[in-house]
Amino acid sequence: MTNLSSWLLHPRAKPVLWALCAVPMLTLMVAAASDLLGANPAEKLVQETGEWALRFLWATLAISPLRTWFKLPALLRFRRALGVSTFVYALIHFLAYAWLDKGWVWADILKDIAKRNFILVGVAALVLMTPLAATSFNGAIRAIGGHAWKWLHRLVYVVALLALLHFFWKKAGKHDFNEVSIYGAILAALLGWRFGLWARNVH
Ligand code: HEM
Repeated sequence: MTNLSSWLLHPRAKPVLWALCAVPMLTLMVAAASDLLGANPAEKLVQETGEWALRFLWATLAISPLRTWFKLPALLRFRRALGVSTFVYALIHFLAYAWLDKGWVWADILKDIAKRNFILVGVAALVLMTPLAATSFNGAIRAIGGHAWKWLHRLVYVVALLALLHFFWKKAGKHDFNEVSIYGAILAALLGWRFGLWARNVH
């Protein structure tokens, strides 16, 4: 574990993680440019960016329990990169939808939000994620104070529940619950761990 800790504390570890977080996006861009996204490239782009947003969100939430379970406090250094990547992928997911699916016609986007619950829930998740991304930098933490920051960032659990519901509704149409149940089980474990801390009054 000491070896792993020193790896995690290496000055290059953070830039390496930021670069790794960009890999899925770069891969998608190369695939799009090479016409390798299949029969419906627009749909594929929206789906892939959505799935990556979800993966990064779950990874962000896993940092705290993992650092406790494996006694690796240095893991905390990586939470910001994962959280910001969640927001960036979710934003690109929305922009891909607004551009490729709706051609930037805002009236159609608003109609879609009003008509389809799963879109409404996705928008709610993205809107709630915005203040978290905007306050993820040291200056913002100092400006609003650590206590308020901690409370604000608890919104991430609401965001996760909304994102899971968005995913669930999307897949329910196809009666495909395999992936959703895995994400749901992981989120239940992460929330259970959080609840355990709260019940024992550990913050
Ligand atoms: C403004 C906000 C959002 C909009 C308008 C939106 C829109 C969409 C649309 C249209 C699809 C269906 C893609 C297709 O199969 O054609 C989709 C799927 C999905 N979205 Fe979103 N979404 C939003 C926010 C989010 C957020 C915040 C997350 C995660 C953090 C997310 C994760 C997903 C996932 C995982 C899928 C399913 C991909 C698949 O079928 O494999 N979305 N979204």
